[in-house]
Amino acid sequence: MKLFIDSAELSEIEAAAKTGLIDGVTTNPSLVAKAGVPFEKLLLRICELIDGPISAEVTTLTAPEMIAQGKQLAKLHKNIVVKLPLTWEGLKTCSALSAEGIRTNVTLCFSEVQAMMAAKAGATYISPFVGRLDDIGQDGMGLIRGIRQVYDNYGYETRILVASIRHVDHMRQSVLAGGDVGTLPYKVFQQLLSHPLTDSGLARFMKDWETMKG
Ligand code: G3P
Repeated sequence: MKLFIDSAELSEIEAAAKTGLIDGVTTNPSLVAKAGVPFEKLLLRICELIDGPISAEVTTLTAPEMIAQGKQLAKLHKNIVVKLPLTWEGLKTCSALSAEGIRTNVTLCFSEVQAMMAAKAGATYISPFVGRLDDIGQDGMGLIRGIRQVYDNYGYETRILVASIRHVDHMRQSVLAGGDVGTLPYKVFQQLLSHPLTDSGLARFMKDWETMKG
């Protein structure tokens, strides 16, 4: 399972990178707007921090515009993956960029059929948003299981990038469901190792060790 950080905050990305356990980064226009750093400058800085796939989303809506913007983004750095919306225009762009060897991440996926269409368009990654499905009372993680089945049934190589992860249990379920990548907000990444029995067990070991020394 690959772990990506879902953030455009350089301090968070840098802190996560220091663990040596981060394989890539995903951003989106909302995260970039919040970070307040010019887009291309931000991407280049992220590329310096993490040597892995860095998703950068297009901010245009027609295929010709997305193709032009996607090519420009891909030129910035070899690790840039062009993130595209799951629309007809986005999938036309996905086919065009894939044909040129540019990696893509098709985002805003909420159904197995959408995921199948993105795979047909040659997407490198599909990003199903589990948290946002849970928010409207649907089964986000059920979608991951469904996409896994579709991709395995037909041998699609598109990787399932579980997005909109909101808590550690989403991560646990993603691993069990066969997601290929989990992209995590930094806050959730920090919680991945938390377990009260780990904390109390370690405290006990240290206390007993001190007793023996005494
Ligand atoms: O980057 C896309 C995705 O992870 C967004 O998550 O929490 O805004 O639904 P969220």
